[in-house]
Amino acid sequence: MSTALVRSIALVLLLLAFTAAAQTQAQVAVPLPTQIPGQNAILMGAAWYPEQWPESRWEEDLRLMEAADLKVVRIAEFAWSTMEPSEGHYDFDWLERAINLAGRHHIVSVLGTPTATPPAWLTQRYPETLRVEPDGRRVTHGNRAHASSSSPRYREFCRRIAEQMAIRFGHNPNVVGWQIDNEYGYALMSYDEPTRQQFQDWLKEKYKTIGNLNAHWATAYWSQTYDNWQEIPIPIGGHNPGLMLEWKNFTTYVWTSYQQNQIDAIRKHADSRQFTTGNFMGFFDGFDHYTISQSLTFASWDDYVGTGHVDPAYNGLAHDLTRGFKRQNFWVMETQPGAVNWSKLNNFLNRGEARAMAWQAIGHGADDVNYWQWRSPLNGQEEIHGVLVGPDGTPVPFYDEASQAAHEFAKVESAFRDTQPLSQVALLYSYDSHWAIQFQKHTEKYDDVALLKSYYRALRQISQSVDVVSAYAPLDSYKLVVAPSLNVLPKELADHLLEYVRNGGHLVLGPRTGLKDEFNALLPQRQPGYLFDALAARVEQYYALEKDVPLYGPWGNGEASIWAEQLKSTAPDDEVLLKYGKSNGWLDDQPAAITRAFGKGRITYVGAVLDDELMEGAAAWMTQQSGVTPVFGPVPDGVEVSRRVSPGKRVFVLINYGTERRHVALPHAMKLVLDGKLADTVDLPPYGVAVALDDGK
Ligand code: GLA
Repeated sequence: MSTALVRSIALVLLLLAFTAAAQTQAQVAVPLPTQIPGQNAILMGAAWYPEQWPESRWEEDLRLMEAADLKVVRIAEFAWSTMEPSEGHYDFDWLERAINLAGRHHIVSVLGTPTATPPAWLTQRYPETLRVEPDGRRVTHGNRAHASSSSPRYREFCRRIAEQMAIRFGHNPNVVGWQIDNEYGYALMSYDEPTRQQFQDWLKEKYKTIGNLNAHWATAYWSQTYDNWQEIPIPIGGHNPGLMLEWKNFTTYVWTSYQQNQIDAIRKHADSRQFTTGNFMGFFDGFDHYTISQSLTFASWDDYVGTGHVDPAYNGLAHDLTRGFKRQNFWVMETQPGAVNWSKLNNFLNRGEARAMAWQAIGHGADDVNYWQWRSPLNGQEEIHGVLVGPDGTPVPFYDEASQAAHEFAKVESAFRDTQPLSQVALLYSYDSHWAIQFQKHTEKYDDVALLKSYYRALRQISQSVDVVSAYAPLDSYKLVVAPSLNVLPKELADHLLEYVRNGGHLVLGPRTGLKDEFNALLPQRQPGYLFDALAARVEQYYALEKDVPLYGPWGNGEASIWAEQLKSTAPDDEVLLKYGKSNGWLDDQPAAITRAFGKGRITYVGAVLDDELMEGAAAWMTQQSGVTPVFGPVPDGVEVSRRVSPGKRVFVLINYGTERRHVALPHAMKLVLDGKLADTVDLPPYGVAVALDDGK
């Protein structure tokens, strides 16, 4: 073989290896569906309601938006009575003029389908479309979310309006996508007879025979045995746990098919470049968000603080939760321009806080942040909500802060092109486990989301990037997977987790793991159920705690609160990591945390709710044991760092949430793109933000 040929082969192999490494590093399938071709990689916008104002005003609104560098309007999601003033008579001319005028100001539109607000002619002529409350009362017209999502007649009206909008705007170049409905699900379900029948049919489809259902729900208990499907009630209040979990699953099915009805109508007429999304509500738990997100192009959420100030850990966790719904970037479809109107105390965020929040969203994988809402409406339920423009049509002080953030987005957007967060650590969050725990908390203090947050805070501090994903998500790319509350753990899921461990992963389980099957029935073995063989340890007994219990071991000394499980090791290669001190007698000197090597990996069980300091010790051990490295390096207290990557590029967002100025040393010289300079340190005032680009150039 000639030297030249050998060299070329070596070069090709090198290139292939480089490409493979780059792909593994970023796992990015470019382009990201959240970044709109031809538009900036990161965008800022607002919810705009032209239907509430004379057309002569629109130009000024859009001029102000353009001057602020707002690039997106979310529009029309409550405008049904203007778009279809009477049954079957549509008027979209005004909307087309508004969208096209926005386009002339370089602002793209996201169209909301208006199905959270059916018009009066609809609900009065077809009262069966109005939702029935659990107490049997049919809601009245005049608020929103007043329709029944399971009503076939209502769905037909939803299909028609969505279809008519898509016929008109599905090819409009200024329309980049669709938001289905608005924050669906918060009014949950209609408790009417037709919905009950649908629930019964859905159960029949799933269980096939009534005997099968009776067996899974163990209905001999309290004479709950059903002779036929028609006897099955909608659970209101306490009920059989199997029935309660299935009602939640049915709720997911109802909202997913409600959404699909509109997506189908839109997709028939819309260009494929137009996305579909839904604006979710963080930890709202009405339905399974992994399931409902499947048929959306990407997930979005509405990020509100309400009373008080942003808790960076909780807000970061909610971003990461939303990113996990489809395991890709997302949008913040709404966020508060200073204050809301619906909280106990509608205080204003401090100056600079909302800008920090906007940047936090970007750091965690948002590609768009929109303020709700642009201008105060002159009447209506939200007259005195935060805005960018007052009722007089001129900017309020907050407009300047939003403009600052939007100008910054526009200035540095190219640094974020094709980038997304990449984590070595995953937290598993499952709706069925969450619901199962909620139904039977055993102590009112038990809060699985608070426990998730406690793990998140400690693990993120060390690793500086954490994914939150479904327990069924692919796990191979993670060095460490932590399931703080996997209460519902059927065999199939246990096999999935065991495969991860066998292949070299480190799986950490929290209290209440592996107690239930998918029917919310107790597994006929002790916790952690099907994971027992791998751990070679089990939960002897769980205790709801009246008061804190001491803990000691290699992670440090501290306290268990709320919940404690007495573990028992059954193999010599089990290692006890924590023990309980003196408490109720049962727990005294018993194991609280155990770890064991299994396959090429490791499984660890932590049976107690740990205090913050001990959690830090636990997180240090977990990350060290799993070879997790921080994505950036040490940062001072109160500074949050996030990283987004694409092949050959890393971009860091640094935010100082502390009250003091902070000095951050960068791991090496990087471009501080907001200031346009190369540096190896950065000074951050309170709420200060820096964006550091490392692209090897
Ligand atoms: C929600 C809704 C908006 C608006 C805001 C007010 O997020 O989607 O329509 O009501 O709350 O904070």
